Amino acid sequence: MRSLIDIQDLSPAEIDELIQTANDIIENPKKYAEVCRGKKLATLFFEPSTRTRLSFEAAMYELGGNVLSVSSGGSSSAAKGESVADTAKTVSCYADIIAMRHPKEGAPLVASMNATIPVINAGDGGHNHPTQTLTDLLTISREKGRLDNLTVGFCGDLKFGRTVHSLISALSRYTGIKIVLISPEELTVPGYIRTDVLDKNGIDYVQTTDLMSVMPELDILYMTRVQRERFFNEEDYLRLKDSYILTPDKLKSAKADLSIMHPLPRVNEIAVAIDDDPRACYFKQVFNGKIVRMALIMKLLEVHA
Ligand code: NCD
Repeated sequence: MRSLIDIQDLSPAEIDELIQTANDIIENPKKYAEVCRGKKLATLFFEPSTRTRLSFEAAMYELGGNVLSVSSGGSSSAAKGESVADTAKTVSCYADIIAMRHPKEGAPLVASMNATIPVINAGDGGHNHPTQTLTDLLTISREKGRLDNLTVGFCGDLKFGRTVHSLISALSRYTGIKIVLISPEELTVPGYIRTDVLDKNGIDYVQTTDLMSVMPELDILYMTRVQRERFFNEEDYLRLKDSYILTPDKLKSAKADLSIMHPLPRVNEIAVAIDDDPRACYFKQVFNGKIVRMALIMKLLEVHA
């Protein structure tokens, strides 16, 4: 039985396979409409979510399966003090697979150690978000036709942005990747991302506070929101929240085939005027997120079309 807690739980070959399945689902959705008939997905979300929870649920419905859902910690026994381990054992009696989002780093890992069914990490605190990474990799592969030889800029809250941590980790396994880290000094990537991921894998990277100076070299610009809920005080959030706001003007020096990505939700870091720019990919990511989760659910449940 396999779970997905960290993107490194999947080999690059398995990621390729998921991307191929996802592309086939887009081409031939009918082929997949019944493959999870009789199976149940439990979504256990102890933190806010729109896309991740609904995309998991839509994915399971489109595979012909069913969904059980806890959509806020306050409405479940977690509010009575139940442990993640006990919740995982309990839900294993009702469902075939769990997708869990939790404010505490490591909670989905604890769930996977106690569940008797596969557990998918749907975001744990400021740590990891491997299914957003699958979404991002599918999007990059569809937009660029490759996952190697790319200069990828990450801009915004690189400290608390879990989607950033997981995507950097995934990209570190491909060749010819250059990472450009753009953030205020206070919001640089955690030390372990530099030492255990970038340095360890010999990845070429630079850190800067200046988006405009690096814009011309980027193939991908991955914008992120400042993660208000992970700040210790509101003053720091208010001071940092508008550090980077992408406007059409700022894209003048960008490559004609730049891909602008964002895991969403957007607050104000990308001007709405950019949404119609053909380089904007964030709503394509939303669509791809549902498709790649269909492929992932099939893989972990070991069902085939
Ligand atoms: C992200 C998350 O939850 O980490 N959202 C998502 O799942 N698409 C990004 C964010 O909240 O800023």
